[in-house]
Amino acid sequence: MSAELQRLGVNIDHIATLRQLRGTPYPDILEAALICERAGATQITVHLREDRRHIQDDDVKKLRAGIKSSLNLEMAASDAMVKFAKRIGPDWCCLVPEKRQELTTEGGLALEKNAKRIALCVTALKKAGIRVSLFIEPGLKAVRMSRRLGADAVELHTGRYCLATQGGFGKRSGAVAAKELKRIRDAGILGRKLGIHVHAGHGFDFENVRPAAALMDDKKKTLIEEFNIGHAIVCRAAIVGLERAVREMYSAIVAP
Ligand code: PXP
Repeated sequence: MSAELQRLGVNIDHIATLRQLRGTPYPDILEAALICERAGATQITVHLREDRRHIQDDDVKKLRAGIKSSLNLEMAASDAMVKFAKRIGPDWCCLVPEKRQELTTEGGLALEKNAKRIALCVTALKKAGIRVSLFIEPGLKAVRMSRRLGADAVELHTGRYCLATQGGFGKRSGAVAAKELKRIRDAGILGRKLGIHVHAGHGFDFENVRPAAALMDDKKKTLIEEFNIGHAIVCRAAIVGLERAVREMYSAIVAP
């Protein structure tokens, strides 16, 4: 095992989703981010979507001013978002595809189709001192293309692997999970060879993250340097935090 610890970026979009559901002042996005940092998160990740369905512009500003760890802004490869990112100055931008109707980011970037646009965004962001990762399917072609487009890192989309580990492909699930984990490994090893950082995210839970975190490169160094995880953490927080929340409310009622 390499001495270098892997990094955890906590995606706190769901915290904003809860707030937006009712338009309440809580939960406070910065408070949530600071709790994540206290618990060991090395990065706070948010996705500022075009439809602003959860994270708002102000949230990103507050996080930039208030967190001590790295800020990773997931965003579409658009002029408007590049302009916003340059104004705020996150440590990282992760370029992601965005479809209006999707529940969550459904796939990796279509690099070939959008090569010119992505390259322009990468160049502009890097010029502003922001490091750039590209959210891609774990394929060799996509890793090579990401390198060519000037990205500092690839974030490998692990959705298919994770879905398979949760039985999402029926009887084929075990075989699909094994195949997908191999794809992730092969893509990561190529990234390493090309001198590009290897991140991963989407769909991880507390079990399926383990085999991915244990992947090694040819030199027996851990392969995936950074994980960006949201849904499973916020879901777990609702379970482990519920008892305390109920106690606090009960006490507010019986001992006002
Ligand atoms: N990485 C990227 C690029 C994403 O779009 C998302 C989902 O917003 C994540 C990581 C986190 O995925 P999950 O919420 O499934 O852990």
